Parts: sequence; structure tokens; C-alpha cells
Amino acid sequence: MFKYNCLNKISKTGTQNFTENFELCENVEDADAILVRSATMHDMKFGKNVKAIARAGAGVNNIPLDRCAEEGIVVFNTPGANANGVKELVIAGMLLASRDVVGGIDWVKTIKEEPEVAKLIEKGKSNYAGTEIQGKKLGVIGLGAIGVLVANAAVGLGMEVYGCDPFISVENAWKLSRSVKAVKTREEIFKKCDIITVHVPLLDDTKYMINADTLKMMKNGVIILNFARDLLVNDDDMAAAIASGKVRKYVTDFPNPKSAQMAGTIAIPHLGASTEESEDNCAVMAVKELVEYLENGNIINSVNYPATDAGVKKTAARVCILHKNIPNMLAQFTGAFSASEINIENLVNKSRGDNAYTIIDIDKVTAKITKDLQKIEGVRAVRVIQ
Ligand code: MLT
Repeated sequence: MFKYNCLNKISKTGTQNFTENFELCENVEDADAILVRSATMHDMKFGKNVKAIARAGAGVNNIPLDRCAEEGIVVFNTPGANANGVKELVIAGMLLASRDVVGGIDWVKTIKEEPEVAKLIEKGKSNYAGTEIQGKKLGVIGLGAIGVLVANAAVGLGMEVYGCDPFISVENAWKLSRSVKAVKTREEIFKKCDIITVHVPLLDDTKYMINADTLKMMKNGVIILNFARDLLVNDDDMAAAIASGKVRKYVTDFPNPKSAQMAGTIAIPHLGASTEESEDNCAVMAVKELVEYLENGNIINSVNYPATDAGVKKTAARVCILHKNIPNMLAQFTGAFSASEINIENLVNKSRGDNAYTIIDIDKVTAKITKDLQKIEGVRAVRVIQ
């Protein structure tokens, strides 16, 4: 029986996909698998049973990926599962920033008791007028599941859309509208566009991507949307750009102590993926990934170990080895099996950066072979599925 623990509230539509081999446990230390949404795991010590963590969402900056890899813990995310929810809020954010809907609504609240409210509104509404998005140039930085949906929706709304993603997947390239103009560098987006939206993960390379230098390249009165992660934007530089009129509005779905009170900013409380549909989709995908990994050893949508598919186990046992991606590992594994006179029926080996994973289907298993494999230098975890 596998034990799972939820660090955050996870939709029941998802958790009901756990098979009869799984049960919920109260203590995260006892868990084989952890489901998480936004809880920060960087300072967590993992129990010796933990084999997998699945994030019900796309971003994984709340999880120590490298440490997990070293401790033999496979981390999964759910790419695309909440993309529609985020896309819809990005479009709403773009409209809120173009028309002063928020300012207008706040103003009506201040005069709502006035008997002449209708007259006052007609007199004062011009203070809250805005611009339309049709015909405006939208720059989409990052064409993953969310970026592609945003770009395509914006084309449908009559915008001139520019997209930038040097790492776009073949699958996403197929989904992208032919009307989206592909540009090679972020700088082209910064210089050309009236509205810019960022859809990239938070990495060393993307941290503070919106900063004084890049803001300087932008058009006066640009609108910037951040539905990805707060640290993609340097808040001090953004505040200065808003004060100078360079930026007309900053919309962030990740308010922090600075941006939550920044003038000219629409701060949304991380609602992008907070829809029933997105929460269900993410939870279903995350649970299916955990079940497939723990029951069959196959890895789908991991962010620290390679995608690996050995199909359904048909032999007496399947040995799953998480290890360093260094020379001579396979020779040592096969040598160990041969020394124990165990026949290998099937072997799949994949690597990703410093991390590698090998699935070996065998006709019998002994306690000795597991110990022999664990002793090999570079092996991080050995698991036998019977
Ligand atoms: C994501 O990374 O996909 C979102 O932050 C998910 C969420 O809202 O929890």
C-alpha cells in the first residue's frame, strides 16, 4: 500500500483517481507520494519513504528540484492542465489594464449612496475612459501551454500578436495560430509591443527579466502582464517606470509586499489557475502521474528526471533505479544481474542533465540484487515493483 499526503487542498475529482493501492496519510513524513500546490518545500526535510512529489500546477519554484533528484525523489508538474484558466484571466487582465474598470468601479462605490448617482456617473465617467485592445500589438514571451492559448485568443480579438520562445515544443508550434508573428529575441517584443505578457518559468535566466534596462527599450505607455511569477519583474524598476509614465499599468497575479501597494498596478491574488476546472484538471493529472510512477515505474511530466516509459510490467519484477548520469552505470547494473544469474527481459535507460533513470524487467528478484544495486556508486534509489 502506498501512502500519500496533500500539503495543500487538492480537488477530490483528482484524488479519487488514486487506485486501491493508495491511502491518505496525515503525516507527510510517512508519505510515499506528496501532492502540493503552493506550499514552499525548500526547507522541508523529506521522510525516507518519499519517492515522488507532484505539483498540481505548472510552476515548480516552491520545490527544491536538485535536492529531490539527489535524494531519489521524482518531481512532477501538470503542464497545460490549468492553461485555459490562466489564459482567460490574462485576457481579463489585459482588458482591465486598457480600460480603467477597476478605478471606475471603486469610484462608483464612493458615490453609491448619492440620490443623483446616475447623473454623477455620466458627468465623471470620462475620468475612467480607456483604449481598446483590437489592433494593438501584443507581445507574448514564452509559448508554452499558456502562452500559446493567450496568443491565439488575442489573434481572435483582433490584436497583432508577436510571440517569442526559442525553446517552443513541436506540439506547441503546431497549436500556435499562423497569424502570430514569431520573433527571435525578447528585445524585439520589448521594442515593438503595446502590451507585453510573460509566460516563462522562474529560472536564473528569467529572474528580473523586466528591469530598468528592458523597460527602457519599451514604448511609452506600455502595459505589462505578469501571470507567471513575481520575481520575473524587478519591482523597484517597475515602480519607477510607472511613476515616469513609461508603464501605463502593471497587472500581476503574484502580488508581494512591494507590488501589492504599488501605484498603477492591478494586483490579483494568484487567481489564474483558481477555477474549478483548472483545479480538477491539475489534480487529476498529478494523481495519474503519481499512480503511474509508483505502480509501474513510468515517468510522465517530471521536471527533474527524464520521461521514461517501459509500458506495463509483464515480468515477475521490475527494478527502477534512479542514478547519476555518469559513465559505466548500465554495465555495472547488468553485471550485478548476471552475477546473480538473473535474466534481464527488458531494459530502458534515459537521462536528463545530471540525472538518469533505468527500468529493468527481470524474471526473478532477490534481496541480494537490490542490495548490490544500492551499493553501486552513483545510485540514488532502487525500487522493486512486484
Ligand atoms: C501554476 O504554476 O500553474 C499556478 O501557480 C498554479 C496554482 O495556482 O496553484
